[in-house]
Amino acid sequence: MRLVKYVLALAALVLAVPAFAQAKTATVESPDKVLSVSLAIGPEARAAYTVSRNGKPVIAPSLLGFLFTDGPQFARDLEITDVAHSTFDQSWTQPWGEWRTIRNHYNEMRVTLREVNKLHRSIQVVFRVYDNGIGFRYEFPDQPNLKTANIAEELTQFSVAEPATAWWSPAFESNREEQLYNKTPIAEIGTAQTPLTLKTASGLYVAIHEAALVDYSGMNVAKVQGGLLKAVLTPSSSGPKVSRAAPFPTPWRVLLITPDAPALYMANSLILNLNEPNKLGDVSWVTPMKYVGIWWGMHLDTQSWNSGPKHGATTANVMKMIDFAAANGFKGVLVEGWNVGWDGDWFANGWTFSFTQPYPDYDIQKLTAYAKSKGVAIIGHNETSANIAHYEDQMRAAFDLYQKLGITAVKTGYVSDAGGVQWRAPDGSIRYEWHEGQVMARHHLLVVTEAAKRRIAIDAHEPIKDTGLRRTYPNWVSREGQRGMEYNAWGVPKNPPKWESELVFTRMLGGPFDFTPGVLSLKGRGDTDILSTIAKQLALYVVIYSPIQMAADLPENYAKYPAAFQFIKDVAVDWDDTCVLNGEVGEYATIVRKAKGSNDWFLGSVGDDTARTFDVTLDFLSPGKSYTAQIYRDGDDADYHTDKRHSIVIETRKVKKGDTLTIALAPGGGQAIRFKAGK
Ligand code: NOJ
Ligand code: CA
Repeated sequence: MRLVKYVLALAALVLAVPAFAQAKTATVESPDKVLSVSLAIGPEARAAYTVSRNGKPVIAPSLLGFLFTDGPQFARDLEITDVAHSTFDQSWTQPWGEWRTIRNHYNEMRVTLREVNKLHRSIQVVFRVYDNGIGFRYEFPDQPNLKTANIAEELTQFSVAEPATAWWSPAFESNREEQLYNKTPIAEIGTAQTPLTLKTASGLYVAIHEAALVDYSGMNVAKVQGGLLKAVLTPSSSGPKVSRAAPFPTPWRVLLITPDAPALYMANSLILNLNEPNKLGDVSWVTPMKYVGIWWGMHLDTQSWNSGPKHGATTANVMKMIDFAAANGFKGVLVEGWNVGWDGDWFANGWTFSFTQPYPDYDIQKLTAYAKSKGVAIIGHNETSANIAHYEDQMRAAFDLYQKLGITAVKTGYVSDAGGVQWRAPDGSIRYEWHEGQVMARHHLLVVTEAAKRRIAIDAHEPIKDTGLRRTYPNWVSREGQRGMEYNAWGVPKNPPKWESELVFTRMLGGPFDFTPGVLSLKGRGDTDILSTIAKQLALYVVIYSPIQMAADLPENYAKYPAAFQFIKDVAVDWDDTCVLNGEVGEYATIVRKAKGSNDWFLGSVGDDTARTFDVTLDFLSPGKSYTAQIYRDGDDADYHTDKRHSIVIETRKVKKGDTLTIALAPGGGQAIRFKAGK
């Protein structure tokens, strides 16, 4: 009798459990069924996901899970207790960007994983599957046995199914994000930063990155063996790499998966789609612009940040720069070295900086008023030497002052060796942190939101990597995060000719880069040569996207090249549309963009150190319109190796939609075109 009762009770239990509780595999496809993602419970009841494209594996079974510093790992003895599917398809408009409108179309699968053992902790894994990539993240629900997640490591794997070539930048090196890329077989990756770009043996392009890095530590990836990579979170001085009270989501782990390199770049809007919509409300005060500044002279070492005979940020110099900006249509003047604290070894610690007190030879009131009278804004500069303890003490008062003075954008800087961020811990002690850790994820959003309260835009140098947060905080207009033009002043080595065509398909997948192009003199410190032609400098304004773009060279150098300078004056900085016409990682890239609210298009093409010729079809132009193509091309003898790097031909042609243009790039060269719409 007792046995019968037991069997009946068991049968009732089995019937009461929904069918999915038995599921060992859950699957979701992208809207057009290009990509498919499965999550399965495998040996030792571990959870692994796979990704395939048109039925072919791209990511072989890859484990998921966590190590904690104060509890057992969440990695085995797992069951799927719930699977929920949904679909989303909406378009949204950017206040500024590479595209005015972005479609967000994905299928979502939310899988609840629960431990079968006695802790019964559960974590949800949410997949968003697009036709050109996927995002997935973990969501920690509030639960008795996991109140605070003290994460020692994230156990996410990326098992790349095919052999592949990788472009990767080493993580945890002293120069932070400013490292040249290694190009190696995947099996030779060490520990890499993301974005990490792969080209597989069958010709697929895959990029591993993350989206919405909020209150969490940045993810790097390390090679385990063969094509197997695993997440390595950036450490923290506090012990756990991440500490968060539940409920909370992790950032999205992103895989862009496309059939060619141009499509890989175009897929970067997926990262924006995985970020939350604008949280700032009206951001009409965030204005894309071109700017000039007291800057290149310091990098050339003909001027100085610090006080003394070479001081760059003097009232007289800045007045002249404001006049230059106003005369040439630039809306901003960046001034570095205006504030006290640069004397001595500023790189060493950052404790000396004041963010409100100008040097005596810099009349901040007079200059901001003068700029305003000329329709120009001063761009503030806050070099922190990565001492965020000191910066956070002063930042609010500084932003109050800037708002009063009409300074609407601030370039921040975090120069220090990797691991050199100084942070004040809750116990008041100063601790050392990494630029990509949880502390810095929090710090950057604190700066951006405090700045937003005062209608100030932020351009962060030596930043945390870009994971698309500009969608949520549109005043975070740009950042650095790789080797920009400054390396052409003093870098050892300088940026190589292939650099920008590599950046397009690597760093630029993350978002805008304040690269500071346009050094038409092509000279670095001590009269050394920059490895570029003059036409390539122009092309960079289209190829390297940023809503704030500097004309970095000295005014006296622009005076020597007035015809080429015209393109810098004409080129737009905000766009309705963007298209990549061609490209290969580290070889060449041709991008066209339609100026916001105008029928004009701009083209930029950059190459590497070999000469190259190709045709492009002008299919992007509007039908029935005639355009004047103002072409800035490498001269027939142009060559970055020789004294012909300034050889340029500027010519015009009438063109229309469907016409073909032949583009010839010199070694180290480029081409820039403005398509000016006629009637
Ligand atoms: C490094 C930045 O990238 C550069 O633009 C700036 O001039 C220096 N730091 C000084 O802050
Ligand atoms: Ca830098």
